[in-house]
Amino acid sequence: MRINLRKFIIIGCCLGLLWLIASYSSFIQMPVSGSKHSLKDLENKIDELQEKLQYQISDSNNLLAKLRQQLKKTEKQKLDYQNSNEDDVDIQRRITNPILPILVIACDRVTVKRCLEKLVDYRPNKDTFPIIISQDCGHNATYQVIKSFTENDPSVTVVQQPDLSEIALPKEAIKFKGYYKISRHYRFALNHVFKTLKHDAVIIVEDDLDIAPDFYDYFLGTYPLLYKDRSIWCISAWNDNGKRQLIDSSRPELLHRTDFFPGLGWVLRRETWLQLEPKWPQAYFDDWLRDPENTQGRSCIRPEISRTYNFGKVGVSKGLFFDRHLKSMKLNMDPVDFTKLNLTYLIKDIYDDQLTSLVYSLPEALPEDVITGSLTHNTVRVTYTSAKTYQRAAKKMGLMDDFRSGIPRTAYRGIVTCFIRGRRVYLAPSEPWTHYDPHWGR
Ligand code: UD1
Ligand code: MN
Repeated sequence: MRINLRKFIIIGCCLGLLWLIASYSSFIQMPVSGSKHSLKDLENKIDELQEKLQYQISDSNNLLAKLRQQLKKTEKQKLDYQNSNEDDVDIQRRITNPILPILVIACDRVTVKRCLEKLVDYRPNKDTFPIIISQDCGHNATYQVIKSFTENDPSVTVVQQPDLSEIALPKEAIKFKGYYKISRHYRFALNHVFKTLKHDAVIIVEDDLDIAPDFYDYFLGTYPLLYKDRSIWCISAWNDNGKRQLIDSSRPELLHRTDFFPGLGWVLRRETWLQLEPKWPQAYFDDWLRDPENTQGRSCIRPEISRTYNFGKVGVSKGLFFDRHLKSMKLNMDPVDFTKLNLTYLIKDIYDDQLTSLVYSLPEALPEDVITGSLTHNTVRVTYTSAKTYQRAAKKMGLMDDFRSGIPRTAYRGIVTCFIRGRRVYLAPSEPWTHYDPHWGR
């Protein structure tokens, strides 16, 4: 382009020069051909020509200035293009050849062995998925178990959270100190992965999680979504309403968007950590991540059928939750190669339009009818109008009925989807959704 413009300028100048020569020769010929003309006429003619010449020069100057401007613009465009291409190339590299380390958060449970065994067994590639265990709590028996995995495999490593000091807390908060320690540990472990080891992304797993056989393919296949759609900040392996009787077991490939951070096996990008870290909370980091203020209203991806199973009955939240919910969650055992699937249906613009136009064209049903199965349609909408009517419907249908920052579990734009007695059910607000009300559930 640059060479062509140069040529253009040279040709332009030559043409200008030719024009000058032509004008000049006609000027000299004039007295010969027009010998009758008076001196006055000749003077006039000269003036006229001079004027024309002046005009021509300023015209050429204008043209030259325009050409220069164009040249500058082209150079800039070329540079911009190169820059955007560099970004593309960088993103392409991160997507096609990612290194996705698994960060295992451990403390004092020797049962971390169960978690590590599955992580090692199902791992398709050690280079793509190095395992990094971060241990808090300084518990030696647990450390010995971890060591048995790291000793003979350089792709499995361990790091110790160094600050084991007691956290000073007001009296009423002491019984929750476990949550403070967990938050402190997460901050250390994520800084270790992103700042010390400089990884692009990480898959976070707690020491009481089993993984599904297609856990790795799930993350490998969905990982590019984090780059293709900036409205997605996390991908989780967990469905909060993942009980057998609430999911479509024939759809292991099905994924959803959710505004409710599910945790329990999830991928986080370095850029997101760098945004979160300065304001990372002292405790209850998972609920903190459920506040749209902290994640800028972005969403997560979650599966229809969970790719992790929680076996940690004895833990910081003391098992109550475990018996009521976690125990009966289904872990997917029907492997799907997510790297071969087209996942564009999850991109925000496509997904939002499709979901709302589908949901609001469905026939309405009552939760009672969904439960008894006395319905003719195989896809229905159950409507709610307030926190109370949401909770009543959710309870009736066996869904989790709690809110965080006003968001029901698994909700996306106010819509909670599940599958009951062979029927797809959407629990949806009566009016099209505009925002969550943080007072719901308070
Ligand atoms: C619950 C959540 C968990 C979340 C935690 C923080 C469920 C089922 N679990 O924890 O995902 O991270 O709240 O709000 O919803 N740990 C430490 N240091 C400690 C104590 C624990 O690092 O001093 C580690 C454990 O090894 C484990 C994680 O923190 O990896 C969570 O601890 P756990 O005892 O399992 O608590 P939950 O009640 O499950
Ligand atoms: Mn746990």
